[in-house]
This record gives sequence, structure tokens and C-alpha cells, in this order.
Amino acid sequence: MHQTISQLDVLPSSVTTPSYDRSALKTRIVHLGFGAFHRAHQAVYADLLATEHHSDWGYCEVNLIGGEQQVADLKQQDLLYSVAEMSPDNWDCRVVGVVREALHAEVDGLDAVLDAMTRKDIAIVSITITEKGYCHHPASGVLNLDHPMIQHDLQNPLIPKSAPGTIVAALRIRRNQGLPGFTVMSCDNMPENGHVTRNVILELARLQEPALAEWIESSVTFPSTMVDRIVPAVTPETLEKIQHQLGGIADPAGVACEPFRQWVIEDNFVNGRPEWEKVGAELVDNVLPYEEMKLRMLNGSHSFLAYLGYLGGYQHISDCMQDKSYALAARYMMLDEQAPTLSTKDVDLAAYADSLLNRYRNTALKHRTWQIAMDGTQKLPQRMLDSVRWHLSKNSQFSYLALGIAAWMRYVGGVDEQGQPIEISDPLLPLIQEKVKGSAEGHARVTALLSLDAVFGSDLPSNSRFVSAVTQAYDSLLTNGARKSVQALVKTY
Ligand SMILES: NC(=O)c1ccc[n+]([C@@H]2O[C@H](COP(=O)([O-])OP(=O)(O)OC[C@H]3O[C@@H](n4cnc5c(N)ncnc54)[C@H](O)[C@@H]3O)[C@@H](O)[C@H]2O)c1
Repeated sequence: MHQTISQLDVLPSSVTTPSYDRSALKTRIVHLGFGAFHRAHQAVYADLLATEHHSDWGYCEVNLIGGEQQVADLKQQDLLYSVAEMSPDNWDCRVVGVVREALHAEVDGLDAVLDAMTRKDIAIVSITITEKGYCHHPASGVLNLDHPMIQHDLQNPLIPKSAPGTIVAALRIRRNQGLPGFTVMSCDNMPENGHVTRNVILELARLQEPALAEWIESSVTFPSTMVDRIVPAVTPETLEKIQHQLGGIADPAGVACEPFRQWVIEDNFVNGRPEWEKVGAELVDNVLPYEEMKLRMLNGSHSFLAYLGYLGGYQHISDCMQDKSYALAARYMMLDEQAPTLSTKDVDLAAYADSLLNRYRNTALKHRTWQIAMDGTQKLPQRMLDSVRWHLSKNSQFSYLALGIAAWMRYVGGVDEQGQPIEISDPLLPLIQEKVKGSAEGHARVTALLSLDAVFGSDLPSNSRFVSAVTQAYDSLLTNGARKSVQALVKTY
């Protein structure tokens, strides 16, 4: 029989393994979205709490759509997996032991998932299902009633497919059985992620059964959170390095991340919560200023680097950082165009920007520009367009944001600067392709993409300052290419 990570005693002593009694943990959180990020973020906080503070909060991990293999791998190795924190000169590996159960809706069945979510002890359902998992219009935050999964769930509320539909179905069962509600905690990168989650769940419930929506309003809370840790998609190369750390034992569920982690949580839980503050999380009354800071400074500059980096031939964020113009552009964008829009107080934003740039320089993190470029239609509104609206209202400059948006347009055109096809991944891809095919390259392309109202709303396409800034940046990308466009912009400062 081949060895797995579950044989903890054969792992090298450099690997941190659970020192607590795993059988004493209770499944009190069901997590939807057992992806790379959750494994390296929320689960690590729970692992630290169990290790250092005898916490008994354990997880039931669920994937609803995709990620069958991750759940299968986890089950194969006694629900253990490893997290490697990587710096250029050091890899720190820990085995996380807080997972008590793992399910996949399409493999184990929806009933098994709903059973888990409707147990009395479940206090929290947390989610990392990517922005598109909320089935909402990213520009407005409203539930997308034309979404095929939402249409399905409206007609079949007892056998839902979407994440919001699954949560509503679980809450209906809890209400019918006289059980208390639970807290629904989004850990996805969206502004006011708690409000978005609340909106989509209440709207779906209201359309299904108004009385259920009322019960949810009074029995469920939706705290917002700001989450931060760079966790690149796992590649065969990462798994090989983790295997080396584990003394030759393969861990297909392993994940690698940067050493930095941050979690700011709105302290609004209806049924109890772990004492996350004991392991570095910040529990606050209002997360919004932190979320906006992180979304605009970190995620906004990441998206800028992703589109301009990909077009400029840089595969990873750390490769972009080797190019002085890109590093300077990211800094100028953060400090001159994102920072002024923020309401954070008592944060040194220049120091924050510099710490982000240092994190981006980590060459051990193979964070692909292509990965960050994914799902642009779901990301641009909160990462760039909200700031653009702020600048339009103040009549101030937003040249870097305009170049970032134009680079997204050039990217979704589907052909790179060498004439090679770009593999675009986006839930609105059919719509994007329709716009691209129906327009000539150049100004007509910009106009066509601006008509995506789920992304740009109706205000931006009719604002002449915005249209002209993006069109000018797009012209520069077509004429000079990404690298020279970034260089030229940096020089004008
Ligand atoms: N990776 C990071 O560095 C990072 C950092 C901060 C926040 N986040 C947040 O976490 C999210 C997930 O990132 P990841 O790195 O884990 O990605 P991932 O691709 O590894 O995992 C995605 C997870 O989402 C689930 N999912 C995808 N589409 C879904 C849908 N339509 N309905 C329900 N579930 C769906 C999948 O089953 C999987 O579990 C991001 O979109 C972001 O909002 C990620």
C-alpha cells in the first residue's frame, strides 16, 4: 500500500502535524468551496486555534460544483492535507487536521450536503465559491434572475443547484424542523460580501416563499469579511515541491501560499463562533473600509498587472515586478488612483502599498497572470470601476485605471501581441465573444465592450471623460503594446 500523509509518524520532523486530539473536534462549520484559498486561509486559522487554544471547532468541507478530485483526495488520506508557506529561501509545511467530513454534492448527493447543513450543531456556513458563485449582477449586486441555475432553483427549490439555492434549501429545512438558523459568512473577494450574500439569499427565498425570507431575516446573520493571503492555483510543480517537503510522500490535496495572512471579520454571529481573534484575526463592527482598501489596492493592482503583464509576456506577478515600469505603475496606481478613494483611517497607505509590492516580489509564489485575469467581468466593478466613478465625480485623473480597463478589453479580444490565441475564462464569455465578433478592432471594439451593462452599468458608457480615457489607452495598447504603454505612462509622472 502506498504511503499517504495520514501516516503522520513518517513525516519529517520539520513538518508541523496536528498536536491536538482530532477526534475531540466537533463539526460546527460547513464550508462550501474547498478550493485552494480556503485550505490555506480559514482552515489554517482553525488549525492554529485547535493547536494553541484547544478549540473544538471542526469543518465539514463541501464542493457543490467542480473540485470533485480535491474532495476524493482528502477522503483518501484521513481528511488531512498540507499547507506550505513559501518564501524564496524557506518553505514551512504544516498538516491541517481540522477537517472532520468531506462531501461533494454530485458524488455524495445533495441530500448528504443538506443533512450536514441541517445538523443541530452547525453554527456557521462559510463560503469561498468565487465571485460568480453568487449568481448576481456584479455591477449592481442584485440576484441575476436569468442565471440558468437560479431559474432551475426557482422551479426546483428542494433540489437546488446553486450555492444560494442550497443555503436557502438548508435554511428551509432548519425552519421546518424548529432548529435555529446559522451564520452565513462569505470569504470571497467582493465589497460588502456579507451584504451581497444576504441580498441574493433573501431575494431567492422571497421569490420561493415570502415567509421563509422573513424567518431568514430574523434567524440568520451575514457578516462581511476581508480576507487576504495570496494562494496561487496548485500546479504539478507545486505538488512536487510539497512532496519533497513531506519527505517523498505525495499529497494531492496540498496547497502552497505566501507566509502573510490577514482576516478582518464583522462580529455578527447568530449562533456562536470560534475565538479567531486569539490567532490574529480582527473582529470589528464595520469591515467595509478594510474590504475596500484590500480590493482596490491589492486586487486592483493585481488585475492591472495581470492584464498588462499577460499582454506584455509576463507569466507571473513576480515576473512583472522585475520590470521597473510595471512595479512603479502598480505603486502609482495604488497611491494616486486607489488610495484617495478610500475611507480607511489610521492606516499608512504608502507603507501598505510597499508591503504589497514586496509580497508580489516573492519569486517562490508562482502566481500566474492568467489566473488573476480570469473572471474579469466579475472583478472589474469592485477592483477598478468603483474608483473610476469616484474620480469622475471629483474630476480627477485615473490614467492607470483607464489603462487597466483597456488592457482587459485587449485581453478579452482573445489574441495576444504575438498573434497567439488567449484562453479566456469568464462566466460572461459568450456575451464577450458576441461583442468581440460583432465589432472591428479599435474604437468600435471599445464601444462594443462598454455596452456590457452587467460590468459597466449604464452610467460609465455615457460618460465622455471615461470613454475617451479608455479609448486613448486602448489605442496606445494597439499601437505600442503593453510594455511600452506602461513605460510611457510611468514617464509622464
Ligand atoms: N486564491 C487567493 O489568493 C484568494 C485570496 C483571497 C480571496 N480569495 C477568494 O477565494 C475564491 C476562491 O479562490 P480559490 O483560490 O480557492 O479558487 P479555486 O479555483 O481553488 O476554488 C474555487 C472553489 O469555488 C467552488 N466553485 C466555483 N464555482 C462555483 C459555483 N458556481 N458555485 C459553487 N461553488 C463554486 C469550487 O468548487 C471550488 O471549491 C476567489 O474567487 C476569491 O473570491 C482567493
